Amino acid sequence: MCGIIACVGADSTVPTLLNGLQNLEYRGYDSAGVAVENGSGLSVYKRAGSVSDVRDELSQMTDDGDVGIGHTRWSTHGPPTDVNAHPHTDEDDEVAVVHNGVIDNYQSLRAELEDRGVEFTSDTDTEVVPHLFSEHLEHCPDAETAFRRTVEALDGSYAIAAVVDGEEAVYAARNGTPLVVGVDDDSYYLASDVPAFLEYTQDVVFLEDEDVAVVRPGDVATLSVNGEPIDREVEHVDWDPQETGKGAYEHFMLKEIHTQPTALTQTLEGRLDVDEETVDLEGFPPGTFEGYDDVQFVACGTSYHAALYGSKLLDDVGIDSTAYRANEYDTSSSPASEDSLVVAVTQSGETADTLTAMRHAADAGATTAAVTNVVGSTAARNADHTLFIRAGPEIGVAATKTFTSQVVSLTLLSRRLAEDFPDAEPREDFDELAAALRQLPEDVETVLDGSEAARLADRYVNDEAFFFIGRNLGFPVAMEGALKFKEITYQHAEGFTSGRLKHGPLAMVTPSTPLFALVTGRHNEKTLTNAKEAKSRGAPIVLVTADPEEHDDLADEALRIPETHPALEGLLANVQLQLLSYHAADMLGRSIDKPRNLAKSVTVE
Ligand code: F6R
Repeated sequence: MCGIIACVGADSTVPTLLNGLQNLEYRGYDSAGVAVENGSGLSVYKRAGSVSDVRDELSQMTDDGDVGIGHTRWSTHGPPTDVNAHPHTDEDDEVAVVHNGVIDNYQSLRAELEDRGVEFTSDTDTEVVPHLFSEHLEHCPDAETAFRRTVEALDGSYAIAAVVDGEEAVYAARNGTPLVVGVDDDSYYLASDVPAFLEYTQDVVFLEDEDVAVVRPGDVATLSVNGEPIDREVEHVDWDPQETGKGAYEHFMLKEIHTQPTALTQTLEGRLDVDEETVDLEGFPPGTFEGYDDVQFVACGTSYHAALYGSKLLDDVGIDSTAYRANEYDTSSSPASEDSLVVAVTQSGETADTLTAMRHAADAGATTAAVTNVVGSTAARNADHTLFIRAGPEIGVAATKTFTSQVVSLTLLSRRLAEDFPDAEPREDFDELAAALRQLPEDVETVLDGSEAARLADRYVNDEAFFFIGRNLGFPVAMEGALKFKEITYQHAEGFTSGRLKHGPLAMVTPSTPLFALVTGRHNEKTLTNAKEAKSRGAPIVLVTADPEEHDDLADEALRIPETHPALEGLLANVQLQLLSYHAADMLGRSIDKPRNLAKSVTVE
């Protein structure tokens, strides 16, 4: 949700900024721009369009320099036009600013500035920042003080980077929106996310809320808004820079689907002892979760579907648990208490709705845990406990491998919780589940090698709507199948519990609405009956199952999965549905890695 990049002392600033923006395109792709300080004023260029579209133009138009900032936008205030693109400047082009987040008090700040005669050129909330900064520059002793005064006046969420004419420095601040500094020998980078500069350095400083940073050649200073120095550690991120490229794949999404066996191997590594039937979750030794009454999951989108899967796994072992959509959690009168464990499931660790839900839970006295992919993310730092899913960087906007690794992480966590919760009944068949988990990367490979999803996509792609049904663990997979399908094909798709179909949605069923039924897990009888009801209304039926032959009379088509433990069948079925969505979107010529209107990390509420 908007990507910010800045660099100081890089070999060539403009190409480095544009590379960084290209790496951050998954955060927004409505417009792009850069500003460079080169000793003879600020050069600012910006355009509506994605970084890929405007990259050549920007690189030709912008003079190089030693210090620069860049931005790729996901619009919140104002349509995606050239004027609303970042960087924004003051009236004299003395200051240029890029921003991610929402400035809540921008209307009153704008009114005050306009009363003082300032003329605005854009519809954005961001534009108040350069005007304020410019005003403060007139009467503050130095640019750092003027920047801190500016930040002091802002309410809301922001990651900001600014350059000033004549200053070889980038001024930055963060509050509620991620910002990370990359530290190399002679150069510094500043970005919304580590993949922006991973090809240059893996050493990073994660800025915290209310931090200000001033980055100059050879030096980065972190301080409070009052100017007191703050020590922030340099941490090493062990993501492989190669992982941020597409390799031989046409899309990041396809690469990420196909690298799920590797991601799963990383997720499981060192955590599962099949012979001893134990899990070893670093940071969660036995006894960590003794004394809680219930587990509440908070998450959004695909991560919510993973959370729902996790919640059903906990139900299975007798632990009272509920999965909440994080964006609704704070509308309930604090469902959490001191006896609750609240688990935030979030790939990015930066989803604003999820972070708000975590704060709501912590305010109610609950213990919080984060299940996330991103080391140093806000969720990881704010939670009392963190379990990393270790899927590696995911660049495609549509989440794929992180869903699979989240569910496997939650499966492992369910074992720890079942051992710790007083009234839980750990699974008797854990030996079989553990063996199936160890086999899972290979089973995913089998699905990838033999999938008929492309043929089915071709057969049904031009139909009117697509329905997905499942029960118990199949339900979150049905929801996820539909979300992925609508997200990247822009076709109408819905996921239901199998039984819900006949309470209304059946009215939509026609010969042009294929129904994908998840015949996975332990509760399939009714799903088959519900699929028959749709078939009698003419809908083509596609079963996702380990045993298509058994349902020849019902199925028009099948997507086969290998036999595995019932708790994991849904995961294999989901890989089939990922491929189905991918191929359908590809046939329709959609922008698969950057679907319209979406961004990977949703850092506004
Ligand atoms: C869908 C998708 C989104 C995210 C959601 C939460 O493919 O990616 O629905 O799952 O925005 O994001 P995280 O997991 O980063 O909290």
